[in-house]
Amino acid sequence: MTANRRTQVLASIGDGIGIIPTAPLQRRNSDVLYPFRPDSDFYYLTHFPEPEAVAVLAPGSKFGDYILFCRERDPRMEIWDGRRAGVEGAVEHYKADCAYAISKLDEYLPQLMEERERIYYPVGRYAEYDEMVVKWLNAARRRGRAGIRSPGEIVDIGQILHEMRLIKQRDEIEIINQAAEISASAHRQAMLTSKPGMTEYQVQAEIERCFRQHGCEPAYPSIVASGENACVLHYIENSDELRDGDLLLIDAGAELDCYASDITRTFPINGLFSGPQRAVYEVVLEAQKRAIEAARPGNRYSDVNDAATEVLVDGLISLGILKDSKDEALEKKTYQTYYMHKIGHWIGLDVHDVGTYRDDVGWRKLEPNIYMTIEPGLYLSPSEELDSKWHGIGIRIEDDVLITETEPLILTSNVPKEISEIEQLMSD
Ligand code: GLY
Ligand code: MN
Ligand code: MN
Repeated sequence: MTANRRTQVLASIGDGIGIIPTAPLQRRNSDVLYPFRPDSDFYYLTHFPEPEAVAVLAPGSKFGDYILFCRERDPRMEIWDGRRAGVEGAVEHYKADCAYAISKLDEYLPQLMEERERIYYPVGRYAEYDEMVVKWLNAARRRGRAGIRSPGEIVDIGQILHEMRLIKQRDEIEIINQAAEISASAHRQAMLTSKPGMTEYQVQAEIERCFRQHGCEPAYPSIVASGENACVLHYIENSDELRDGDLLLIDAGAELDCYASDITRTFPINGLFSGPQRAVYEVVLEAQKRAIEAARPGNRYSDVNDAATEVLVDGLISLGILKDSKDEALEKKTYQTYYMHKIGHWIGLDVHDVGTYRDDVGWRKLEPNIYMTIEPGLYLSPSEELDSKWHGIGIRIEDDVLITETEPLILTSNVPKEISEIEQLMSD
């Protein structure tokens, strides 16, 4: 499938050249590096998993259309850092027309730029490559006196790639489906094992054990937030003890073959919802169902957002938490004290995936094979305005939904979200 994508990008590039580097290795501390994760655009086009690589798409070049610069085989280095495909493997296994050592970039890129109108490149993403691209361009320009033309523009390659990446292809949907299943089973396991007296990090360990067992990494730092920690949207300390009577919000998703999933469930640590917890949960669940119902082709992102917001506002008013009228609350957005994010995001190779959210008219229209999260929430941080019975209730319910021609497909449905199902599972 990467070959089809490259063909499509080559057609868009036309008389330009595409230069797509993978991500640089990142230092964590001292001589310790973070585990390598490829750049998503690069991976989308190559499936090449190694660091220190640059894909060049140069339609009709004498080297071929697709040239991969990568690390050469080096038995001595491979003993330390692991196996490499080498330039031979880049051609044989990754279907490059031609491959060269990464050390040859300075030699080849100025030549490859000659007689091309523009450079397509992820402008501003990696400072070291920004500098190199300008250096290669200047080297190509110096050949101007020899009558050789060089590119006049640098265009962000995201303009081509990101709309493509937004609409998922069949091979991507298969992987996404597996990632979603693995995440769902991990969340089920968390519901089964969480007990008062455990710590948040022990639940995190259980979730991430399930991910690793299936060869996955967390797609983003797992949020395991008990009690009022759930009102901190990006709580990742995961250091507190689980208390009897509190809720536990877990936002965690597995990444499989670089594809993310992203699930949130909120459940009672002792297995039974209290009255106030149940009341708030039912509002969030209804909001999520209504939003999923609206996630259909032709509807806009804002229709999905609005469907949820309306239920949340009705709920906040009927629980007595918001004192405004519905119109006032929607107009002045007073509900944002308790619901401060939007309904969801595109998801794919990046958990917050690429693709614009707006078109010329307004929020973008949904199309089949867009994959998005739907994740309303209510976060009732303790405050003077709020009756103490609500204090510290933070609830989000998040599923990953594939837009289809007809019904939205919930790929993460294999983890309970109905109150009765959660209580049933936790009593087993
Ligand atoms: N887990 C990140 C998000 O829900 O957007
Ligand atoms: Mn999430
Ligand atoms: Mn999300």
